[in-house]
Amino acid sequence: MRDPPHHRGRLHGMKLLILGGTVFLSKTVAVTALTRGHHVTVATRGTSGKPPAGARFVKIDRNDPAGLAGLAGERFDAVVDVARVPGQIAPAIDMWGDQAGHWTFVSTVSVYARHDRPGQTVQTGELLEPSPPDSFDSDMQRYGHNKVACENQVRDRLAGKAFIVRAGLIVGSGDPNDRFGYWPNRIAAGGEILAPGTPQDNVQWIDVRDLAEWIVTAAETRLTGTYDATCPPIPRGEFLARIAEAVNPQARFSWIPQDILAEHAVQPWSGPESLGLWVPLPEYAGHLSRDPSASVTAGMTIRPLADTARDWLASAPEEPQLGAWLSREKEADILAAWHARDRR
Ligand SMILES: NC(=O)c1ccc[n+]([C@@H]2O[C@H](COP(=O)([O-])OP(=O)(O)OC[C@H]3O[C@@H](n4cnc5c(N)ncnc54)[C@H](OP(=O)(O)O)[C@@H]3O)[C@@H](O)[C@H]2O)c1
Repeated sequence: MRDPPHHRGRLHGMKLLILGGTVFLSKTVAVTALTRGHHVTVATRGTSGKPPAGARFVKIDRNDPAGLAGLAGERFDAVVDVARVPGQIAPAIDMWGDQAGHWTFVSTVSVYARHDRPGQTVQTGELLEPSPPDSFDSDMQRYGHNKVACENQVRDRLAGKAFIVRAGLIVGSGDPNDRFGYWPNRIAAGGEILAPGTPQDNVQWIDVRDLAEWIVTAAETRLTGTYDATCPPIPRGEFLARIAEAVNPQARFSWIPQDILAEHAVQPWSGPESLGLWVPLPEYAGHLSRDPSASVTAGMTIRPLADTARDWLASAPEEPQLGAWLSREKEADILAAWHARDRR
């Protein structure tokens, strides 16, 4: 299933087209490429965010059959695409697939069908059934199925030039979600901190800058193949300790078993009254325990967690963006109930 990886000489001064480029990951890719001296065009509807300084912006709408007209006839050395619906893929490949030398498609570990098996790799992980390739259904329930269908089109039509990266949780400055940010924020605030599950449970993430660097390097070096993009898993106890070292070495953690959290209706992963990077076990034992060693071998680098935590805190809002995070009131209630139970 996996294309053979290969490197050639590194390209300088590339003409790079980013289908996206105005929010979080795709914007960080644009900034990274600009910093390395490439010529960057970002193309979006212009509704979600602004292009970074130094990038050329072209307005497009990929939900409109004629929506790429603003870029007709243009040539690029490489394309980076973050599409989430399969119907947006073919028109872009029709336009630049023959001509561009390299094509990155940003996918997700949500393409995998099994969440309960730790240590899965690109080779061993079963995939979800793909959505129809011409579907424009953007329902989040279809997200993983849609990304499989996007990947299949890229892999089938761009053999030999496709770099498909299945990102795990992407974190860092500009993150519109709150799944990682809760932890540096909560740990910096101090006091008794509720830690979910056990110190041995695994967690995994990728700093947006590490993923962006790898994507730009892949375009420069013509790296191809399908890869997971997430750091090697570490135990949650170590994860929290490393963040604490960076933002509050005095932090005190109380480990609360998952059944107690469930009793108190704490939501896993994301959403109101949730704890980010916490998933129920054993059902999701594979979710934060993928084996990304092939990606490390292919050049993915992972910065120290302390950098990610410090930088997130320096750039982040005080409040969650999406109404996620466990409230301090609920955290206090759970800790009090847990200590009362201890005393009985
Ligand atoms: N965040 C995570 O933890 C995570 C984890 C795994 C994988 N991923 C994947 O990583 C990627 C993240 O990309 P991202 O951070 O750049 O966020 P994103 O929300 O996927 O970005 C979408 C970009 O595409 C543009 N766009 C959306 N609809 C469009 C349309 N109809 N026509 C033209 N442009 C359109 C948006 O601008 P306009 O809306 O202004 O058009 C925006 O620039 C995605 O592929 C996502 O699936 C994310």
